[in-house]
Amino acid sequence: MTKNIAVIRGDGIGPEIIEQAIKVLQKIGSIYGHTFIFTDVDMGGCAIDKWGDPLPDFMLEKCIQSDSVLLGAVGGNKWNDVPGYMRPEKGLLRLRSGMGVYSNNRPARIWPQLADNSPLRKSIVDKGIDFIIVRELIGGIYFGDHRTEDIDGIATATDVLMYNEEEIRRIGRIGFETARKRNKRLCSVEKSNVLDSSRLWKKVMHELASEYPDVELSDMLVDNCAMQIVKNPAQFDVIVTENMFGDILSDEASMITGSIGMIPSSSLGAGTLGLYEPIHGSAPDIAGLDIANPIGTILSAAMMLRFSFDMDKEADAIEKAVSNFLDKGYRTADIMSQGMVEVGCSAAGKLISEELK
Ligand code: IPM
Ligand code: MG
Repeated sequence: MTKNIAVIRGDGIGPEIIEQAIKVLQKIGSIYGHTFIFTDVDMGGCAIDKWGDPLPDFMLEKCIQSDSVLLGAVGGNKWNDVPGYMRPEKGLLRLRSGMGVYSNNRPARIWPQLADNSPLRKSIVDKGIDFIIVRELIGGIYFGDHRTEDIDGIATATDVLMYNEEEIRRIGRIGFETARKRNKRLCSVEKSNVLDSSRLWKKVMHELASEYPDVELSDMLVDNCAMQIVKNPAQFDVIVTENMFGDILSDEASMITGSIGMIPSSSLGAGTLGLYEPIHGSAPDIAGLDIANPIGTILSAAMMLRFSFDMDKEADAIEKAVSNFLDKGYRTADIMSQGMVEVGCSAAGKLISEELK
């Protein structure tokens, strides 16, 4: 099969980690007889520097025309003072929205080899951590009206959190469908004791529940959920939640698995065009040092093969290669522990691709 992949290296550690995912994809291509054509797309701070825009329209168009998009990370201190509408992150939000990828899937699974890296007590980890956060990605407060103004001489800022029932329903369905393919337990997370948007969220989720009688639906307030994720993560199978809650909870969920550097994500809309990115940021403090963990990006590439290209065995092979790499005791700095062999970013990419046979 031939697939066109738009590649956004981005800022900070983005280029280093993407390089490793490309190594792995090329190896997969040569083993399984696929041709992956990589087209570079500028987005984020580097695009601001080059084009004066975090995501020029013609760059977005390249993504929409591709079979799928692989993204490293964007942002950095250098662009902290640019106006909000010009920030590198704005490029990412325009990309998600422009591609229509409303459903962001973030797995929180502990690798047995990394159980000791979890900051949680062993007795909690031993009960298992394996759940998925389905995060609504192109609505809510990220995309509501933003403004900063002077009201009676007092600086005032407003961000609007708005959802309509259709936006909630389409992400709700993804939550139910995801749970149906797993252990059939869906937890809808909101703040319905305070927010109207959350009360609508809850109502729509319960309406949908009648279409999925095989899935057990529960509700949880987001503050409680933040607590339950560290207290008893084994209780979760699939969590479905709105954009900002999902952003926050997915960082928390990643950390209990040992390192945010390990976690991939997929974002999909109505078709197979997807956006695949690790959930961590651009880590400017370690950029260029060749010490970043490329595994989140490599596993994102595996998700691309599985969800956008229907290449299950190829995706399995990548996940197995990562597992073998960990079995052999190789670790990047973020997951290093006593008695293991510390390797850099590019060595990790090379070693993981060598595990592919
Ligand atoms: C994420 C990131 C982004 C988000 C930032 C970089 C805009 O934190 O993908 O979780 O908030 O969605
Ligand atoms: Mg985030």
